[in-house]
Amino acid sequence: MATRAWPCHPRGRSRIDAAPADEFCCSGWLADYNPPREHVKNKTWGLCNTSTPTAWVTAVPEPPAVNRIVHGDVLKVLPDWPEGCVDLVFADPPFNIGYEYDRYNDSRPPQEYLEWTARWIDACLRVLKADGTFWVAIGDEYAAEVRVMMRGRATLRNWVVWHYTFGQNCRQKFNRSHTHLFYFVKDAERFTFNSDDPQVRVPSDRQLKYNDKRANPKGRLPHDVWTFSRVCGTFKEREGWHPCQMPVDLLERIVLACSRPGEIVLDPFAGSGTTLVAAAKNDRRWVGVELSKDYVRRAAQRVADETASAEAEAASVADVATG
Ligand SMILES: C[S@@+](CC[C@H](N)C(=O)[O-])C[C@H]1O[C@@H](n2cnc3c(N)ncnc32)[C@H](O)[C@@H]1O
Repeated sequence: MATRAWPCHPRGRSRIDAAPADEFCCSGWLADYNPPREHVKNKTWGLCNTSTPTAWVTAVPEPPAVNRIVHGDVLKVLPDWPEGCVDLVFADPPFNIGYEYDRYNDSRPPQEYLEWTARWIDACLRVLKADGTFWVAIGDEYAAEVRVMMRGRATLRNWVVWHYTFGQNCRQKFNRSHTHLFYFVKDAERFTFNSDDPQVRVPSDRQLKYNDKRANPKGRLPHDVWTFSRVCGTFKEREGWHPCQMPVDLLERIVLACSRPGEIVLDPFAGSGTTLVAAAKNDRRWVGVELSKDYVRRAAQRVADETASAEAEAASVADVATG
């Protein structure tokens, strides 16, 4: 359990005299506390401490390991974590379509697969903060069931379709070129969505095609069909040792839109580590869970290689084995 200084929280538990100069008072919130708007905007201690000369210490739950990939089964690892300890979850589970993973059997009876899906979803929602965001990637085979399963569990904000180029060719039916990305929040009124972040926005047709003076110079928010290429076997970006690596650009859009710097991003099916790379590159803290020890080791190396700042921490990741 880490402690954070909360200068503006009315129900702090104990008083401290000095807070670290670089403490962010607005980088994570108590589940039931809505911060005043100016404190969200001014993310530094000094600016936030204007309304009161005292500072309060409040315990903010955190996962036992941050900037680590935990080796183990998500259903065994997450129940040991405190409730409400991560800000954003991106889950890209096996789709039960017979992919070849080194440890996981991806051909299970449908009912068994769905029961397992409900269990890991609940485990993720338990560790997600009350104002947290939950993304689930899923294929056509189970998208409808997962959508229905989420009713009463979280609120859908967007049903994004990832349209990928460089899909596989079919001979006797139309080629599949999409995956479903469900965007849920725990609380329909309280969540992070960085609509003004220039890295989230894209140029509009008014700007690009029509040279229209009325165009918003900041561009527009992306539509809910996203085109990103699959990471094919021949691509430089492809790690080569994992069967379903996602593009980092896609994960960066999600991380930038749905979390703030310093917050914690969880990927419960870390795979090749794409979500963790996207989080680390954008100054978020990150934590992954992965069943395969080999993937853990290689993904840790990937995070270290692609994000110089995470190098030291990522290097020791493979030693954190709990499963
Ligand atoms: C679809 S892949 C994730 C790919 C990832 N998004 C990426 O870009 O590399 C699913 C991953 O979940 C892992 N996995 C399967 N069952 C698991 C479990 N019970 N707990 C943790 N990881 C699991 C598999 O080993 C596989 O690496």
